[in-house]
Amino acid sequence: MIKRIGIMTSGGDCPGLNAVIRAATKVAIKVYGYRVFGIRDGFQGLVSPGSFLELTLLNVKGILPRGGTILGTTNKGPFKIFFDRDQTTEKQKKIKRLIIKAINRLTKERIDALIVIGGDGSLKLAQEFYELGVKIVGVPKTIDNDLSYTDYTFGFITAVNTATDAIDKLHTTAESHHRILVLEVMGRHAGWIALYAGIAGGADVILIPEIPYDIEKVCQFLKKRYRSGSTFSIVVVAESAMPKNDKVVYGAGIGPGKIGESIGKEIEKRTGIEVRSTVLGHIQRGGSPCSFDRILGTRYGAAATRLIAESMFGHMVCLKGFNIESVPIKNAIGIYHKIDKNSEIIKQTRGMGISLGN
Ligand code: F6P
Repeated sequence: MIKRIGIMTSGGDCPGLNAVIRAATKVAIKVYGYRVFGIRDGFQGLVSPGSFLELTLLNVKGILPRGGTILGTTNKGPFKIFFDRDQTTEKQKKIKRLIIKAINRLTKERIDALIVIGGDGSLKLAQEFYELGVKIVGVPKTIDNDLSYTDYTFGFITAVNTATDAIDKLHTTAESHHRILVLEVMGRHAGWIALYAGIAGGADVILIPEIPYDIEKVCQFLKKRYRSGSTFSIVVVAESAMPKNDKVVYGAGIGPGKIGESIGKEIEKRTGIEVRSTVLGHIQRGGSPCSFDRILGTRYGAAATRLIAESMFGHMVCLKGFNIESVPIKNAIGIYHKIDKNSEIIKQTRGMGISLGN
């Protein structure tokens, strides 16, 4: 019988985490009579002293509009080696020891089930715990919207709003100075933020990893715009955008934080038009969640507690159309939710005369 549940936020922070924590806690206490324990700093909290904090109706009050996470989070910490590509037997043994230590801690704290709010990496780790007998349920989190089996992750729309606002502001300088303004946005494996914000902000070029770009075609397009009287342009670049016929990948060579600038320099060299570049960075992860993400986070949090009550362990809540459903965590991890280059939204984007760089 479930009496005490744990909840943690893991990986990069994201607008709406507190909405999930609040809803999961409220439903747990009010509907099911559970006691709820927040675990500080994600999985790291399971192997660190003093990191369990009881959540009550009082201490989740007022957190709905707050960005970040009241529980803290990390995408580093002792469990980081779990994600290393070069898995030695030594590392695997170390991870196993850490997981066992963490499971013993959950037993000691009498936690009967655990809600893990995280992205692909955190949910992969959660699946390991589940396979070792921990009653886990997952909540998909990331501003990148790249998790499979859910239409949206919470935090994405807030990040899109922030990026759209940045594009609106960049328009002013682009127009006044007759420049090309490049904006680099986040999206480690998928171009959702770039595509959505680019459309919403009226960008002229959108470069996403799903459609490798040809820099010459981008420049021809921009020069044509100038010739036809549009003396400024906005180029939105996903941090993982990739040139055609190249092996540049995220984190290698031109990586996040530099790719927008490097594309900007190349455009200036090839077109002779003045270019300025901006990296939006962690501003996209910050601030108060928009109403969509508050609602989605609330629905996810409430549904996660319900999954525990229904013994749906090893499952993750997800959004399918208008409905909250659930899916086995193992189905959702490892396959990123990318933009289909033949999808309706891509066709419409092209139809609007926006260049996708190919
Ligand atoms: O996964 C979300 C994300 O925002 C990526 O788009 C980005 O590259 C990454 O996190 C940055 O993480 P960090 O906080 O480690 O800089």
